[in-house]
Amino acid sequence: MTISERLRGKVVLITGAANGIGAATATLFAKAGAAIGLIDKDADGLAKMASTLSGAGHKVHAVPGSVTEPADIKRVVDETVERFGPITVLVNNAGVTLTRPFMDTTMADIDFLVGVNLKGLVLASQAVIPHMIAAGGGAIVHDASNAGIVGRPWQPFYGATKAGIVSLTKSMALAHARDGVRVNCICPGSIDTPMLRGALASSGNFDQNWRRTSMVIPMGRIGEADDIAFATLFLASDEAKYITGVALPVDGGRTAGVAETSHLTMESQSS
Ligand SMILES: NC(=O)c1ccc[n+]([C@@H]2O[C@H](COP(=O)([O-])OP(=O)(O)OC[C@H]3O[C@@H](n4cnc5c(N)ncnc54)[C@H](O)[C@@H]3O)[C@@H](O)[C@H]2O)c1
Repeated sequence: MTISERLRGKVVLITGAANGIGAATATLFAKAGAAIGLIDKDADGLAKMASTLSGAGHKVHAVPGSVTEPADIKRVVDETVERFGPITVLVNNAGVTLTRPFMDTTMADIDFLVGVNLKGLVLASQAVIPHMIAAGGGAIVHDASNAGIVGRPWQPFYGATKAGIVSLTKSMALAHARDGVRVNCICPGSIDTPMLRGALASSGNFDQNWRRTSMVIPMGRIGEADDIAFATLFLASDEAKYITGVALPVDGGRTAGVAETSHLTMESQSS
């Protein structure tokens, strides 16, 4: 099957599609033959994204807005369905992060993270699932994080919202399995996007943080947005038709084990 056939005929909604992983996912999904609805609060970035995709002949409809606003979600869902037909793939990608230790975290910080990362995802899912059920099924892919699988003391509530997404993925998958709606999530590691670059720059020396981050990844490099987009394409496509309730790490092996103990293996080999 060629790339242009993998999502042919599907109508997809992608949140947070103006930058980073969402932009890479929108670009790949358009090449895979999908008609795409996009929403992002970065109106300029979204307009550029939409014009690039439509200029390349793809079907795209972009609505500037926030996933935290029910009216914005309703608008992008209604308009996408009106233009292209029922949405049968949803990528809940919009997310925000915050680097702040547990003891310094405020209630406003928690509201901010929960508002976008969890409430936004719930709003979009609740708006789209009835269309999927009416169409006989669909696929939802959430962008969680490997911070939802292991602890991350410098981003404790970001991690807590992502662990919430991992849990919701499983509950939603079970609730909608008989409706033909599959629900999975990706747990990206460190991926080169404006979010990661911002986080590395905000906590000191960017170049040093980039090197240190790369060093603790077993595969030895920070990931690319495409690494996540390709995994999302698989889970969204009919190729994954028997997969639901899965949290898939795409992180160069970061959560596979404790890479720091690799010196033990090296010592035993040299003795
Ligand atoms: N980059 C990483 O290393 C990494 C790692 C793990 C998980 N993730 C997750 O992947 C997803 C995408 O991350 P990214 O690195 O591409 O981030 P990014 O900040 O580079 O891009 C996120 C996009 O979401 C949009 N957005 C933010 N809040 C929004 C809102 N309320 N409504 C609509 N749009 C909104 C932003 O405008 C932006 O275009 C996020 O959920 C993030 O938590 C990223």
